[in-house]
Amino acid sequence: MMPAITARAHTNIALVKYWGKADTEFILPQTSSLSLTLDQFYTDTTVEFDEHLSADEVTLNDQRLSEKASQKVHTFLNLVRQMTAGTSFARVSSTNHVPTAAGLASSASAFAALAGAASKAAGLNLDKPALSRLARRGSGSATRSIYGGFVEWQAGHDDADSYAVPIAEQVDWPLAVVALVLDPHHKKVSSRQGMQSSVTTSPYYAAWRDVVAQDLAAIKPAIRDHNFQVLGEILESNAMRMHALTLSAQPPYTYFNGDTLMAMDAVRELRDQGVPCYYTLDAGPNLKIFCEKPAVPAIKQRFSELFGATNVIVAHPGPGLKFLA
Ligand code: ADP
Ligand code: DP6
Ligand code: CO
Repeated sequence: MMPAITARAHTNIALVKYWGKADTEFILPQTSSLSLTLDQFYTDTTVEFDEHLSADEVTLNDQRLSEKASQKVHTFLNLVRQMTAGTSFARVSSTNHVPTAAGLASSASAFAALAGAASKAAGLNLDKPALSRLARRGSGSATRSIYGGFVEWQAGHDDADSYAVPIAEQVDWPLAVVALVLDPHHKKVSSRQGMQSSVTTSPYYAAWRDVVAQDLAAIKPAIRDHNFQVLGEILESNAMRMHALTLSAQPPYTYFNGDTLMAMDAVRELRDQGVPCYYTLDAGPNLKIFCEKPAVPAIKQRFSELFGATNVIVAHPGPGLKFLA
């Protein structure tokens, strides 16, 4: 019997978003993207291949997943079996320390952890670029969660050259990300469906590709020089321009809710009062507010008043994929 392997991966929040695939089977993106891995949100996943099993068994947060809910995991394990010519099914047990499918990037930490645990449990010893490529096949955003800190997913052209590279794994900049959990429930439109509809129906999609190219070029020097204002302006406008693709799709849809709009206003008010902070949000209503550490108390206080202290989580740059003993 093969040993059980446990891996931990953290979620990441994109500053320049991935929002569209060029190839849906291999999960090749339309553009490169750039993120920060976060310390407060992560997934632990244990995988054990067992010749006695007659099917893959997947549990998430101690609940056995239905055939349909675990389809992405089966497909992913098939890839790993192909790489090793193995035939055994696997027992997969995963715990999300992040709300699932709520726009807090559970798919990023989930498939990065699964890539690590499944490949090692199958006897492979993949290096980080290979782990990043493998994680990509589960969920695009997982490509970046192999690394800690600031990470770029270089779009590449094919399966071989589409993977993440670390920009600054150790972030020597006192940054914080205040996450607002405004609605932890499952979103109605998955990231996968949402981005596909944006690519095929938004008349603004070509402009989005240009926005991403410009934002990537401008944000890298801001990261290098610790220029918070430039970083913040880019991450906020990039998020809004991504969400404009959902509003301009056919049929139109949005991940915002009323609290999202209220929280955006509150960020602008804080800025007017001299508290430097900027928001972003992925495919869900939950805002993440970037700031430097001295601004954390004012931001925490304001959003605790609005939404309750338990829904305000202060995160910092987090680490890359790890194997747990
Ligand atoms: P999110 O914003 O949370 O990333 P997505 O729509 O991108 O939302 O992805 C959510 C999907 O990711 C879930 O419906 C499920 O298929 C998958 N997922 C999330 N967590 C896990 C996990 N720990 N193990 C396996 N699959 C997971
Ligand atoms: C808005 O990686 O969840 O968070 O590749 O279809 O699994 P799939 O989608 P996913 O999409 C993430 C979209 C985003 C932006 C980002 O993380 O770059
Ligand atoms: Co996701």
